[in-house]
Amino acid sequence: MILYDAQRHIFHLQTEEFSYVMQILEDGQLIHRYFGQRVNYFGDHPLVLLNRSFSPNPTASDRTYSLDTQLLEYSTNGLGDFRESAIAVSYEDGSSLDLRYRQHRIYKGKKALAGLPSSYGDDDQVESLEIDLYDDYLDLTVTLFYSLFPETNMLAKSVKVRAGQRAVCLEKVLSLSLDLPDSAYQVHTLNGRYAQEKLWTISELRQGKFSIESRRGASGHAQTPFIALADEQVTEDSGQVYSAHLIYSGNFVAFAEVNQLEMTRLGIGINDYHFRWRLEAGEEFQTPEALLSYTNRGFSGMTQTSHHFIRKHILSGKYKEKTRPILVNNWEATYFQFTEQKILELAEVASQAGIEMLVLDDGWFGHRDDDNSSLGDWFLYQAKLPNGLAHLVQKVNEKGLDFGLWFEPEMISEDSNLYRQHPDWAIQMAGRSHRFGREQLVLDLTKPEVCDYIVKSVTAVLESANISYVKWDMNRNITNPSDDLANDVKQEFYHRYMLGLYDILERLTKAFPEVLFESCSGGGGRYDLGMLCYMPQTWTSDNTDAISRLSIQEGTSLIYPTLTMGAHVSAVPNHQVGRLTPLETRGHVAMMGNLGFELDLTKLSTQDLSGIKEQVKTYKAIRDTIQLGDFYRLSTKSENEKAYCQVSSNRDQAVLTYVKILAQPESPISRIKLKGLDPDACYDCDLLGRSYYGDELMRIGLDMPLIQQDYQSVQYLFNKKRGENL
Ligand code: GLA
Repeated sequence: MILYDAQRHIFHLQTEEFSYVMQILEDGQLIHRYFGQRVNYFGDHPLVLLNRSFSPNPTASDRTYSLDTQLLEYSTNGLGDFRESAIAVSYEDGSSLDLRYRQHRIYKGKKALAGLPSSYGDDDQVESLEIDLYDDYLDLTVTLFYSLFPETNMLAKSVKVRAGQRAVCLEKVLSLSLDLPDSAYQVHTLNGRYAQEKLWTISELRQGKFSIESRRGASGHAQTPFIALADEQVTEDSGQVYSAHLIYSGNFVAFAEVNQLEMTRLGIGINDYHFRWRLEAGEEFQTPEALLSYTNRGFSGMTQTSHHFIRKHILSGKYKEKTRPILVNNWEATYFQFTEQKILELAEVASQAGIEMLVLDDGWFGHRDDDNSSLGDWFLYQAKLPNGLAHLVQKVNEKGLDFGLWFEPEMISEDSNLYRQHPDWAIQMAGRSHRFGREQLVLDLTKPEVCDYIVKSVTAVLESANISYVKWDMNRNITNPSDDLANDVKQEFYHRYMLGLYDILERLTKAFPEVLFESCSGGGGRYDLGMLCYMPQTWTSDNTDAISRLSIQEGTSLIYPTLTMGAHVSAVPNHQVGRLTPLETRGHVAMMGNLGFELDLTKLSTQDLSGIKEQVKTYKAIRDTIQLGDFYRLSTKSENEKAYCQVSSNRDQAVLTYVKILAQPESPISRIKLKGLDPDACYDCDLLGRSYYGDELMRIGLDMPLIQQDYQSVQYLFNKKRGENL
């Protein structure tokens, strides 16, 4: 609910769980008053007005009021708030911004953001507020957009800047800035590197600034556009967590700054690194959207809120909240060395095992036998697949499998027809030589003709055969940003690249609504909400080792639904880390996400093949629960053990996955308590040959078996007993 108290000039945004309060002061400043656990009414809480040294006052006669000491809703540069501002501008004769309230609008529903991905909802699910702030001297309007999802406990925020009569340069413009009166928090982020993405990282907050960012032209493997502040005493099930996401896939920054008065400012938005956007008179700039939430139900509360919201208001199209096929991908099975016959053999065994789709990965186009050539040439490698793509797809379909195909459309190889015809389509900075990544260059998506080429060439392939799935990869980051420096004040390249990319994705996903799109960037190098708005799943990591995957998948699922998370069983020794893990453990770990296989099924022993058949069968019986249910991290005695529970939305089924990493002598007992079950229902567990009530499983727990070997796991399925109880 969005309430406006016209007498006291107070906005109160209320969901089931939180309240967000702002107030317009007499001088037109928009002050932030409160964000936290829901209150029914925000009464007469006076501002803290104190005379403080070195905090400048807008009025000479009143030494108690300073922007430096207030909680500000959207802070500006140059006029007395010394923290990191939300927006900064420069113009002919100055560089400050004085924003005052002008008007506001409240309405049902939510507008889409022009050119950018954003959350969405029906008129009965979301309500919006727009507040126009105005700078008299610059004739500049800043509109703050708030869209409140009362049931899913989310506030979407974005900002639009509109130049009036005068031109200005935006030096910085965040999507969200939030001031909190306290600083006793820890910062939670998802950090990592290639093949080890999204490690859940906790950092201390001190006076000064903590920040994460990307300057790569993609959100990156190393950082995720997400930041949370949690009470120092927070637990999995209780305590306050404030969390913010950015719906954006390019350069971003997220920070938490503590000032001299131990107040905290949290911010997230486009990175101001290599960013300067010039607005001529009458022009507008729209920021990406940020999502803000609060819970006092600990990390589990944050995870549930985030998963539900993303599934309902970010994912879209046919596969939104729809289960995904079990696939086999040929990458780790063959790499570039495959023939039609080999792919059909793989499809044959996959079909016998009950697998539902075959994905042909890199190497089917141009003359690509390794990663040195052909990106940009999206036509079939005839010598490799002489009977054509449509023929191959038909043969695979005849075996009862759908067919998926890999692309890397944003890239160009020097050794490609495309480069020979259009060398200027690769991003290039005047006077500088190319920088290579995997021997490839990035196409300049700021050029409309390049975007059109990508749409046209991918369309032609998708129309040429019965293709049900696309893996959209991106395997290097941007260098040499080629801003047109005729007007040397602009640094717009990185954001214009993203606008080009989003335009392509919008066009292709609309044109092929039946196709399931999966995004990838060497695994999770662009696993963010911007991509998820178009492509409802992501290849989580190039690291397919079950043990490495535990932390990668745990970090990923901290905020992203398991429905979006590709997880494959691969061969041993594992290709990334050389580890030998049992097939069972590989299956159990992969079954916590969207299950696939990425190994040469034709070379398996009879025993392993029947193991895989069993995994496919089991997964089909639990797929709804895994993909569409609720996900819980369970408490274990140490980091040497991991336990998770996935529960169907009607609480009829639960899957407990327990992994013990290293064997220990005299191993301590591991009693695991489940979560999310119906306490009064009785559940059967076939593997244990027993039944338990939900309350027993959640309150007493289950003792895990003692297995004296490394990398062991168990998976218990609990199905609600029908009819009679115990
Ligand atoms: C990236 C992807 C892999 C595979 C290769 C193909 O690394 O993450 O899954 O598709 O490219 O070159």
